Amino acid sequence: MPIQRGCFITLEGVDGAGKSTHIKWVVEQLQRHGLSVVSTREPGGTALGEQLRQLVLTQPMNLRTETLLMFAGRCEHIETVIKPALAAGSWVVCDRFTDATYAYQGGGRELGFEPISRLEQWVHSDLQPDRTWLFDVPLAVARERLARSRDLDRFEQEGDDFFERTRRAYHDRLLKFPDRLRIVDSTLPIETVRLGLAHQVDELVQSHHAGVGP
Ligand code: TMP
Repeated sequence: MPIQRGCFITLEGVDGAGKSTHIKWVVEQLQRHGLSVVSTREPGGTALGEQLRQLVLTQPMNLRTETLLMFAGRCEHIETVIKPALAAGSWVVCDRFTDATYAYQGGGRELGFEPISRLEQWVHSDLQPDRTWLFDVPLAVARERLARSRDLDRFEQEGDDFFERTRRAYHDRLLKFPDRLRIVDSTLPIETVRLGLAHQVDELVQSHHAGVGP
């Protein structure tokens, strides 16, 4: 029998949305279903990608350079990690993917969506996440959470307008791809968020096993 391709899940959200709190837990939920899971992230996910991550999070650079570096790391990540894992039947849980480029570079930095769409076509016209959870919080909550965190990177140091544009671009993605993206109200208590996620994980696993998508 041929191996069934794994499912590709991405987690997204503005900085301070609390996404990192839930990733390990989501992976554990999937493993409880007996699935082999690869947990990875962007920028990063490969040795080269982690070096690029260092650069984009710390070095000032032209916006197009920044966007190209995001896609350079992504290309390597897709070809050497994501696609092979999915083909081998593993599920891939990725902390951020191309929706983040639409939100941060396209929205936050006001590059617009067209150049990103062209890069997306070039780099991964044959791959999209099967499910994306968008962790959503308003500015005040994100700021409060970030205030408690360690050193802030180049994106986390940006002002309120940048945050609002980024969040709005994520909401645009939600409207554009309502089947793939699901919003998670990350202002709710952790346990409530997890209850909702657990339900969605179960549904995802069941429909996957039944071969009806997503
Ligand atoms: P992280 O803190 O969630 O690991 O993400 C690092 C930062 O990188 C975060 O502030 C968002 C930013 N980012 C982009 O600006 N564009 C992208 O395409 C990706 C994947 C991340």
